[in-house]
Amino acid sequence: MTAPDGAAAPDGTGAGVAAPWGMLAELTHRCPLHCPYCSNPLELVRRESELTTDQWIAVLDQARRLGVLQTHLSGGEPLARRDLAELVGHASGLGCYVSLVTSGLGLTPARAEELAARGLDHVQLSLQDSDATTGDRVAGTRAHHHKIAAAAVVRRLDLPLTVNVVLHRGNLDRIAEIILLAEDLGADRLELANTQYYGWGLRNRRLLMPTRRQLANARRVVAAETRRLAGGMEVVYVLSDYYGEYPKPCMHGWGSRQFTVSPAGRVLPCPTADVITGLPAEFVQDRPLAEIWYESAVFNAFRGTDWMRDPCRSCDRREIDFGGCRCQAFQLTGDARATDPVCRFSPDRHLVAAALLADAPEDSGVADPAAGRPLWRGIPTGRVPR
Ligand code: SF4
Ligand code: FES
Repeated sequence: MTAPDGAAAPDGTGAGVAAPWGMLAELTHRCPLHCPYCSNPLELVRRESELTTDQWIAVLDQARRLGVLQTHLSGGEPLARRDLAELVGHASGLGCYVSLVTSGLGLTPARAEELAARGLDHVQLSLQDSDATTGDRVAGTRAHHHKIAAAAVVRRLDLPLTVNVVLHRGNLDRIAEIILLAEDLGADRLELANTQYYGWGLRNRRLLMPTRRQLANARRVVAAETRRLAGGMEVVYVLSDYYGEYPKPCMHGWGSRQFTVSPAGRVLPCPTADVITGLPAEFVQDRPLAEIWYESAVFNAFRGTDWMRDPCRSCDRREIDFGGCRCQAFQLTGDARATDPVCRFSPDRHLVAAALLADAPEDSGVADPAAGRPLWRGIPTGRVPR
């Protein structure tokens, strides 16, 4: 597939580049939660720098013309935007599948009804834990009971519900309870995602990394529960990249299927690409989205395989995992062109091996937040922008 009607790649550029399917619209970085594994950047966009309603509507129009069919409205907490219903309605009116990625805080029955009436198709709700005390400690605020109430609201409206739980040393031992809770909440899908060590997660790796025993136990529980739930709630379990032999095909390849628009209008190939210093910044206020997608240096930096060096360049898996994650490569090696260090062939694999040795604790030393031990004390967390 190449550029669809109305968004053709300009002559001589973007040849052979497919149109994007999805857009992650980060409407705001404001968030009532302060999770220590937050995927938001360390430098957050302030409220006064956020795109206006009209600017977001123009972004949605351009994205649809470009080929986007799936719009994920995210943040921060997208419910912090008073114009959320208008944006949902606009995206839905364009024929997009509209998904809300939310903490659930602020998803009152009235708000949810309005969003459903405007065409919201799906809700992805984050949950920190099955245990309210620990969940609230991780979120940095009393959030758990709001999330339970938000799930009930979503189910009453009969909207498809995905529950997303980031797993780490502090909650992995309750994975069975987490699965039961998601089932009780009526989730259609449960995403159990072990922390990936980017951004705040990388900063807090020493406190988040699970033990081998926890991971082995989680694998057993998930396998048994997946069998029990067959035909019902779908369970997706994602291990941290550090424990694999090969990297994941991050974003299905740079600039291949989707893009992110930050609250200030910066267009990025993945939600955390702004950690890669030296990448030119492209904003929707300055240039049409189609030009950014097809022509910009940032989207073409790691597209395809031409940018690769060995061992990726000559590797049989280069069209399978695309050399792994550029953000991870940059954050661990300082070089975004490097082979993802989680790969067994990477000359930098020793960095991951050393982290596993230094930061993954022995089972005897695990601090259990549920037992009141201070795992989270002093841990840096995502900050709330003003
Ligand atoms: Fe993937 Fe590169 Fe590793 Fe091959 S060498 S498996 S392409 S990351
Ligand atoms: Fe940015 Fe993987 S998260 S390329």
